[in-house]
Amino acid sequence: MISIKSPREIELMKTAGEIVGDTHKYLIPYLKPGITTEKIDQMARDYIISRGATPSCYHYEGYPANICISINEEVVHGIAGKRKLKDGDIVTLDICACYKGYHGDSAWSYPVGNISEEKKFLLEHTEKALYKGLEVIKEGAHVGDIGYAVESYALDHHLGVVKELVGHGVGNELHEDPEVPNYGKKNTGPVLKAGMVIAVEPMLNLGTADVYLLDDDWTVVTADGEPSAHFEHTILVTKDGYTILTKR
Ligand code: MF3
Ligand code: CO
Repeated sequence: MISIKSPREIELMKTAGEIVGDTHKYLIPYLKPGITTEKIDQMARDYIISRGATPSCYHYEGYPANICISINEEVVHGIAGKRKLKDGDIVTLDICACYKGYHGDSAWSYPVGNISEEKKFLLEHTEKALYKGLEVIKEGAHVGDIGYAVESYALDHHLGVVKELVGHGVGNELHEDPEVPNYGKKNTGPVLKAGMVIAVEPMLNLGTADVYLLDDDWTVVTADGEPSAHFEHTILVTKDGYTILTKR
């Protein structure tokens, strides 16, 4: 079942989304060579708590860190630790916060120092693929329209579309119905209605679309070791479009 949020719930989700967006803004200046992912994770936790929220990922299905930090070929769910960022890396921060029982969810990939032209291309076009997916959203659109828009844009740019992981509804659960795949056919899937809240989150690879799970049971990496990028916003569906809840 896809829930329609009440005005009160929408207010709380706007605050949750704002906290997530602000956590990104707060962390960006620290994404420099030499910082450990553990340090970034702790700063994210402290910032989220200072805003009266909690990091939704912490202990979610046993996840051991506060936010997901994925470097280069890591697609999603990287676990913070002693590893340091280095010049030329791309790093994805996937940040989820829960405010008064409601979640916000936004992932963004960032360059560390100077990155290759290939990685710049990947970041630029994965971000654009997110906005291509968002552009089709309004009451009456189908979830398949989003996947179709993301996938066509990605394929036009010869990027691999990760299929094993999908976007999702967001509310008082971090993951709600519907699933929002980054592939699909127009006019298929659930119909969107004003008041629904979903996370759209293309994960695109420079090489193959294939991925696998590391032995830590969380980190998903590309099968060929090529880099992957991930851009995600939580949005509210409206009568004639959408409102980004996680903007900064
Ligand atoms: N934004 C991530 C997702 O939608 C959140 C994962 S929380 C984790 O999959 F605990 F599973 F890592
Ligand atoms: Co998500």
